[in-house]
Amino acid sequence: MSLNFANRTRLNEGKTKVIYANPDDPKTVYMVFKDDITAGDGVKHDVIQGKALVDWQTNRDIFEYLNRCGVRTHYVATPQERVALVKKLDFKINLEVVTRRIAAGSILHWGELEQGLRFDPVITQFHYKDDPLHDPMLDDTYIDYLISSKKAPEYQQMRDINAQVFLHLEKAFAHFRIQLVDMKLEYGRIDGEVYLIDEISGGSFRLWPYAVEHPNFNQKNVLSELDAAGRLDKDTYRMGGAADMVLSKFQQIARITEKFATLQAPV
Ligand SMILES: Nc1ncnc2c1ncn2[C@@H]1O[C@H](COP(=O)(O)OP(=O)(O)OP(=O)(O)O)[C@@H](O)[C@H]1O
Ligand SMILES: [Mg+2]
Repeated sequence: MSLNFANRTRLNEGKTKVIYANPDDPKTVYMVFKDDITAGDGVKHDVIQGKALVDWQTNRDIFEYLNRCGVRTHYVATPQERVALVKKLDFKINLEVVTRRIAAGSILHWGELEQGLRFDPVITQFHYKDDPLHDPMLDDTYIDYLISSKKAPEYQQMRDINAQVFLHLEKAFAHFRIQLVDMKLEYGRIDGEVYLIDEISGGSFRLWPYAVEHPNFNQKNVLSELDAAGRLDKDTYRMGGAADMVLSKFQQIARITEKFATLQAPV
């Protein structure tokens, strides 16, 4: 039986998803993916036919994998194409939590880092979600204060979960000879606990295929080991790639994450 959302209560509509109430269970909501794609804090906007379907697939495969890994996520099930059933948020934490293995994108503006520099251990940064302010980065000493003063202990949990998820996904993509460069996630509170929420899809990370048979990641800068120009992620769109090219990259991601079901989840 297929769900018809035409007459259902819309709780929220954002740039890439619509949230509908679940009349059968007030503790869950439906997340319906849209074909819209945006960049530059919403300044660049397009509609790409078919994007909702691939994002939904990628999101499903990644969240199912993370649930198998024991990560506390809001994802419950996939009732039908382009729809995810998730636990309803009590409170949205208005942050994007970014974890980076390799320097790329906006971090290159902060302190003259060269692209390809490898961070070990990974670094995790908090950005305050505000499009007009361009999601400013929060000061780490302030975060440390919030944690140590016990004013906001969830920051420590978000730091830990983000790094843990990064390592799970980095390992999973490595099976397919792809490097997870960086990734941004969102969190909320459900039943008093911090949960990984929202979506994880082509716009959530950078993915660069390996450039050589046996990449050597044991060096300061690993750009020569990776094919940055062959990127599979939303940078294709940010850099002006045509809609069919962006869609084809996102389809390549979905074909890979589909195989996550075959991977053994670490215990
Ligand atoms: N488990 C959940 N329960 C309720 N709402 C959720 C849940 N997960 C995500 N949402 C919300 O769904 C809304 C739509 O998501 P979408 O990503 O399209 O928004 P957006 O325009 O990108 O805004 P944002 O920058 O906050 O992500 C967001 O407000 C998001 O916080
Ligand atoms: Mg969003």
